[in-house]
Amino acid sequence: MNKKDYKNEEVYRHRIEHLFENIDIEKARSWFEDFQHLMAYYRCAIMEIETKFNVLNEEFSLRYDRNPINGMKSRLKSPASIKEKLERRNLPNDIETIENELDDIAGIRVICSFPDDVYMLADALLNQDDITLIKKKDYIQNPKPNGYRSLHLIVSVPIFLAKEKRNMKVEIQLRTIAQDFWASLEHQLRYKKDNSFTPEMADELLYCANLSAELDEKMDNLRQHTFEKDHS
Ligand code: GTP
Ligand code: MG
Repeated sequence: MNKKDYKNEEVYRHRIEHLFENIDIEKARSWFEDFQHLMAYYRCAIMEIETKFNVLNEEFSLRYDRNPINGMKSRLKSPASIKEKLERRNLPNDIETIENELDDIAGIRVICSFPDDVYMLADALLNQDDITLIKKKDYIQNPKPNGYRSLHLIVSVPIFLAKEKRNMKVEIQLRTIAQDFWASLEHQLRYKKDNSFTPEMADELLYCANLSAELDEKMDNLRQHTFEKDHS
């Protein structure tokens, strides 16, 4: 580095320090590192729960020759959504608060073939001795007023690191193919940016939710006839 560059670097550093004089850079760096670690733990927790469902699906398919799980999707809440939720609930953004107060940083959606599969899988998971149920919302037994149906569980699952065991929270949404179809389209319609969602559309969507619940019931009857005849 020649003398001129050296001078430029000094000026540059001085400018940056001036710009960020209200920020404790060391503190920000350590917060960021802790945040990255926490997100890695949540990714591990997602892997643990996915494996548990894959195992259940495999066992069921060996035993009954059909798959109760049609598909699985997982997601980690984005930093922007975490920030938005903390602000909405007037919470500070320290790592402990993020971990203690937010239940849906790690999320898994399990799409099941039939309504009975939703409960069979939920029970099988909750019976495992390393799983603790924190919260359960049964929007299938008690649909939301807009027609939304799903079984929501917040569970705690241990992840095993080299030197410690950590219990992490995961939000699990279990629903049938028909319930998922409805929820995906409702989400797209409701959150369209042009505010074109009208009360009439809400009524129509509720009607569709009830239709798809009827469809689920008919399909479940067919399943009982087909599979239970096979295994009687
Ligand atoms: P959040 O603060 O949004 O997490 O809500 P909550 O803590 O009251 O939890 P709830 O169990 O009611 O909903 C959590 C998640 O379920 C949402 O983030 C959506 O993914 C899904 N969900 C809940 N209600 C609806 C709905 O009416 N329509 C659709 N499409 N999804 C829903
Ligand atoms: Mg949520």
